Amino acid sequence: MASIDHSAEQLKNFKNLSLDSKSTEKVTTVTGKGIADKSSTLTVGPRGPVLLQDVHFIEELAQFDRERIPERVVHAKGAGAFGYLEVTKNDITKYCKAKLFDTVGKRTPVAVRFSTVGGESGSADTVRDPRGFAVKFYTEDGNWDLVGNNTPIFFIRDPVLFPSFIHTQKRNPQTHLKDANMFWDFMSLRPETTHQCSFLFSDRGIPDGYRHMNGYGSHTFKIVNDKCEAFYTKFHLKTKQGIKNLSVKDADRLAGTDPDYSIRDLFNGIERKDYPKWTLYIQVMTFEQANTVKFNPFDLTKIWPHKQFPLIEVGELVLDRNPENYFAQIEQLAFSPANMVAGIEPSPDKMLQGRLFSYSDTHRHRLGANFHQIPVNRPKCPVMHPTIRDGPYCFTDNSGSAPNYWPNSFSNLKTDPSYKDHCQQCTGDVQRYESGESEDNFSQVTSFWNDVLTPDERERLVENIAGHLKDAEPFIQDRATQNFERVHPDFGAKLRLKLNLIKTTLSSSTSLTCQTATINKFEQNNQCDDDQFKSKALYNVARFIYSKRSTICASVNCASSSSTLPSSKMSR
Ligand code: HEM
Repeated sequence: MASIDHSAEQLKNFKNLSLDSKSTEKVTTVTGKGIADKSSTLTVGPRGPVLLQDVHFIEELAQFDRERIPERVVHAKGAGAFGYLEVTKNDITKYCKAKLFDTVGKRTPVAVRFSTVGGESGSADTVRDPRGFAVKFYTEDGNWDLVGNNTPIFFIRDPVLFPSFIHTQKRNPQTHLKDANMFWDFMSLRPETTHQCSFLFSDRGIPDGYRHMNGYGSHTFKIVNDKCEAFYTKFHLKTKQGIKNLSVKDADRLAGTDPDYSIRDLFNGIERKDYPKWTLYIQVMTFEQANTVKFNPFDLTKIWPHKQFPLIEVGELVLDRNPENYFAQIEQLAFSPANMVAGIEPSPDKMLQGRLFSYSDTHRHRLGANFHQIPVNRPKCPVMHPTIRDGPYCFTDNSGSAPNYWPNSFSNLKTDPSYKDHCQQCTGDVQRYESGESEDNFSQVTSFWNDVLTPDERERLVENIAGHLKDAEPFIQDRATQNFERVHPDFGAKLRLKLNLIKTTLSSSTSLTCQTATINKFEQNNQCDDDQFKSKALYNVARFIYSKRSTICASVNCASSSSTLPSSKMSR
């Protein structure tokens, strides 16, 4: 039986569930005056003109003219829902005093927003892009935001590069088109992007909706226990629905036929009470280990190997409520990595440090100075901040008649020393430390290639990179390939072969998209169906590559025709 598309029935459900069929309410202006006719402008005679005194009409247009707020500069397209974190294990209390973790069975309400990164608010959900996974925990001690992605790592390690990096993922300043030269020029000039690029172009680069992907805090954070002992940690949210990814072919098809695929999938999952769940884990590293571990633990392009730093279960995140109003509750959601609670603090990770500034700054621009008063952003515990006052659209009591300066002799507010931050010594020479080549950019990618990916996954990774890199200038292709060669000679060699094949194919025949038809066995294995094989030279190239067990689809769209890629054994 076909599953019900709850999203398509929203209006019917609204009528059936929300309205009392017997009573009606009167429609009014925003100031509460009843309206006699909401479908006609006030005109001189039936054929116009319209009168300036039609204040209802003017109100209607003036509000409409202001309906859009700036979209997020990144992560503009997204979906959100509400639920809770339930603590299932209390081991974490020996590392972290944050109150939300203190008792098994304790539930903390959450708001979650998932997103794609580079596209605009109307862009397709099924593009190859990291996915945002941002969680706001409304704890009894204030809001904690874990603003992560579906990847345990990121492209860069110095925050000053973030605006440039994002520009390369967005549109060319003249053509207003996505630009493979911008993308690969930056990536190839910054070899630290190789790890995340390899993740992005793997099967996990196109998750099958938001329910079937993991979330990662990605950064290293500091956690502190009630004895004021500190540890470093990473947060992981592992999907209980199982990892599922889309094939390139299906993702491309959905981008045209159902660009809101992931929003719909999340909404319908929750409506049919198939509540998506994730297990929250932490990894813990002592300060001593941080000093001796082989890699830089504050480098966002690195994972912490699970063997060395095992996952410790904390709780279960459940999403069981859709928003009532998308704009009010999801578009106006404002996350910030700077929103932490007692027991969770920043580590020296430079990227995290950069993010501590950026988010509230952008919220002031996107939502206004009083963004923290918007109901979905307000903590559920009391907020007593006597000196944060006024500003546009202040709609709380604005701390009433209490003094608006600190210190003062007239209010009963006091600070609490138990909220003191963990004290940490910090020394070093003040300089700009170039981090592109000074860190190890490749060894973790090598183990990703060798130990995490299956042979088929490696083939698709190369296939996917080639399908995108082919549109960049030859010198950029070459520089990018050299970086992948440094991961593993096979990675570079396969990529070079693939790019050469695409080049030869494109120059031989514009309609030729796949050579597989001439090699029956190969065709079966790879499920390519284009049988327009025409060139003897290409036949030879195809045979050669097949003998090397490489996938040879000339077009990125031929990557695989199966609807869902197998769940990978990637454990990271
Ligand atoms: C220096 C590095 C970074 C800077 C300056 C930065 C900046 C921003 C900005 C300005 C926004 C828009 C926020 C809004 O309008 O509400 C944003 C959104 C977001 N960023 Fe970052 N970002 C950085 C790195 C990262 C990293 C490393 C991750 C993940 C590990 C990440 C995850 C997200 C997510 C998930 C959102 C969307 C939040 C939402 O759903 O509202 N960002 N970022």
